[in-house]
Amino acid sequence: MKIEPLISPDAFVGLEGVTHLCTGGEAPWMKSHQSVYADFARLKSRGYEGRGEVAARTEACRKKVARLWNVPAGRVAFMPSSAEGMNWLARGLDWSAGDNIVTTSLEFPSVGYAWKSLEAEGVAVRRVPHCRWIVREEDLLGAMDARTRVLAVSQVSFYTGQCLDLQRLAEGASRRGALLAVDATHGSGVVEVPAGVTDLCVSSSYKWMLATHGVAPCYLSPRAESRTAATCFGWRNLVAWPRDQMEALPDVPIRPMPEKMEPGNPSLVSIMFLSNALDVLLSTGMDRIQEHARQLSARIAAGLERLGYTVITPGESSARSGNTCFLSAEAGKIHDHLRSRGILVWGELGRVRISGHLYNGSRDVDRVLAALAGS
Ligand SMILES: Cc1ncc(COP(=O)(O)O)c(C=O)c1O
Repeated sequence: MKIEPLISPDAFVGLEGVTHLCTGGEAPWMKSHQSVYADFARLKSRGYEGRGEVAARTEACRKKVARLWNVPAGRVAFMPSSAEGMNWLARGLDWSAGDNIVTTSLEFPSVGYAWKSLEAEGVAVRRVPHCRWIVREEDLLGAMDARTRVLAVSQVSFYTGQCLDLQRLAEGASRRGALLAVDATHGSGVVEVPAGVTDLCVSSSYKWMLATHGVAPCYLSPRAESRTAATCFGWRNLVAWPRDQMEALPDVPIRPMPEKMEPGNPSLVSIMFLSNALDVLLSTGMDRIQEHARQLSARIAAGLERLGYTVITPGESSARSGNTCFLSAEAGKIHDHLRSRGILVWGELGRVRISGHLYNGSRDVDRVLAALAGS
C-alpha cells in the first residue's frame, strides 16, 4: 500500500532532488517561514507599537502550544532550550543527600545529566538499563523508592525511537510522590504529547515541531510549581515596575506562571516561526500525523529487517514514533553513502536513525531501502 505525504515536500526549502529522512536531527525549513521573517523584520523596526504586536503573537503561540499539548496556556513558558527545562527542576527542588532521580541508561545527555551538580551533594542518579534496547516502564517504576524525587525521561528516545507510555509512568510516579519530568523533543509535533499528565514537559522546536532553535515550550504542573523555588529573576518576573522605585530594587510581587519561567524576553523571532509551524501541525491534526509516522516507521523497520539489519525500535505501534533505528558499527559510513545518493539520515553513536514526518511517504522509504540494499 502506498503512503502519501500529508503535506508536499515542495512546501520546504531545498528538498528538490533530496530524500529528507532526518527530522530527528534537523527539520527542513518551511518556505512559509520566509514571510514570517519579513513580518518580524517589519515589526522589529516599528518601535513600541511593533513590540506590542510581537508580544500579542507570542501569547497567540502560547495558546497554540497549549492546544497541541492539551494543557492550559497559562502553564506554558518559553524556555531557550529543552536542557534549561530539566535544569529548572535540578536547580529549584529542595534536595537532600540521599534523594535520587530515576532515568534510563539510554537518555539524551540533557535528561540524564541535568542533575550533575547534585551528585556532588549526595543525590543519586539511577540509570535504569534497557532490555535488548527496550526501556521497560515497569523497570523504571521498580527502580523508584520513597527517596525518588524525579522520574526523568524522554517521551521518545533519540537513540531507539521508542515512545514511552507516559500515562503509566505518571500514575506510578504520582503514587510514589515523585515528579515526572519529560523531554518531548522527539515526540512533540509527530506523536501526541499528553503533557497534562506530567509535572514538567519541555520540547525543542527545531525538530518535529518544524520551527527553529532558541525556543523550547515548557509545561509546568501546579504540583511541580509548588515544590520548586524560582532560581532566575529578571524584569519579566515583576508584576509592575513602579516609577517611585526607579532608583531602588523594585519591591513588588513576582508574577506566577508562565512569566515565572521567563525572567527576560524569550526568543521572539523563534516564537513567530513556531507559531507558523503550529498552524500546519494543528490544521493537519496530530492524530493523522501520529498515525502516518507510525505507518512509515513500521514500513522502514520491516524493510530493514528484510535486509538483515538489527532494528532497535520497538515493534508495537503505540511504542513507535517518527524515528526508526538500527545498529551499525559503520553508522557514519552508511550516512555518507546515503548522503552521496541525496538521502539524508542521521548516523552516529553506533546506530543509524531514519526519521519519517508528515512530508515523507512510502517513496522515500523505498528509496532509502534500495540505497541500503546497494551499499
Ligand atoms: C531528547 C533531546 N532533547 C534535547 C535535545 C536538544 O535540545 P536543546 O538544544 O533544546 O536542549 C535533543 C537533540 O538532539 C534531543 O535529542
